[in-house]
Amino acid sequence: MNILVTGGCGFIGSHFIEYFLSTYPEGKVTNLDALTYAAHPDMLKHLDTLAPDRYSFIHKDITDPTLKNWIKNTKFDALINFAAETHVDRSILDPDSFVRTNIMGVQNLLTVAREGGNIRFVQVSTDEVYGSLKSDSPPCIETTPLDPNSPYAASKASADLLVLASARTYNQPVLITRCTNNYGPFQFPEKLLPLLIANALENTAIPVYGDGKQVRDWIYVVDHCRGIDAVLQKGISGEIYNISSSGEAPNIEVIKKVLTLLGKPHSLISFVGDRPAHDRRYGLNSSKIRKELGWSPLFSFEEGLKITLDWYLKNTEWWKKVRGKDYFKYYQANYEKKFGSLTSAMKEVSS
Ligand code: TYD
Repeated sequence: MNILVTGGCGFIGSHFIEYFLSTYPEGKVTNLDALTYAAHPDMLKHLDTLAPDRYSFIHKDITDPTLKNWIKNTKFDALINFAAETHVDRSILDPDSFVRTNIMGVQNLLTVAREGGNIRFVQVSTDEVYGSLKSDSPPCIETTPLDPNSPYAASKASADLLVLASARTYNQPVLITRCTNNYGPFQFPEKLLPLLIANALENTAIPVYGDGKQVRDWIYVVDHCRGIDAVLQKGISGEIYNISSSGEAPNIEVIKKVLTLLGKPHSLISFVGDRPAHDRRYGLNSSKIRKELGWSPLFSFEEGLKITLDWYLKNTEWWKKVRGKDYFKYYQANYEKKFGSLTSAMKEVSS
């Protein structure tokens, strides 16, 4: 299979390319990526040596209007879109870039896939489109109504609707995957787990939003990639597939677990003001992909966490380089101004 991956230098996309090229000796990947702040040129280097004759890179943005002409001279079997702005906090501060990439970009790619021979189109989406789940509700299924709360979630829900509309309007072969919170090596240290690990290793405060009792459903990134591949190979066109490891846990428990595993004191925990419109709980029912496509997760949270912690311990240079002090500068300049909720612990870190 010769596939076009968009956003392949991001956290999940880069793991997917690595998984795909190592699983299919005949598989070919063209990776189209805009190389924004969360991209991993380091992971790229690794891909170049893994399969130089089966991997190529194109530096372009998914909103580029010339892509539909470019693709006419190619012969891809499928397009898998990982390209997205993904951090909820950033979407609160700068929703426009989320509309541009996550909505306009996907609309452009749908046209590109049609112009490229109406190839199979896989949109990598998120459980956040279902909104916040009540504590006593069963996990969301694929037909649970969309009810997004953050600009990020709304942009991904909008993209899902455009993808489904293209299937109905143009008979386009599309598939959507919706996954829970990912973690693993190479995740940009602005999401909870890598931020927590990096802060703990630097003995700096860990900002916990609100009461820390929000629930997230965790999956190791490679299991997510295996799920996307199952959908790519065997999924039924027009269908949506939830992907989850059924690993629901309150943030504060995850944070304490990581601190204990790293041998760091729980006194690093610093409760800060809550994120606006913070979703209380995410939880996904993934029976459909398990029953229909035979997928199931391979990694328990404990196993995935061990691999992840080992990686961040061995790769301090990487996460120190990519985040610098920018994260805190960013928060101080923007978050506090808008929401006025930074604690003195965070201020100390950012000074
Ligand atoms: P995040 O990794 O941003 O993913 P998402 O919001 O998409 O689920 O956050 C995971 C959870 O952790 C979420 O409930 C917000 C919370 N959180 C904190 O408490 N502190 C932090 O510094 C961050 C980044 C997140």
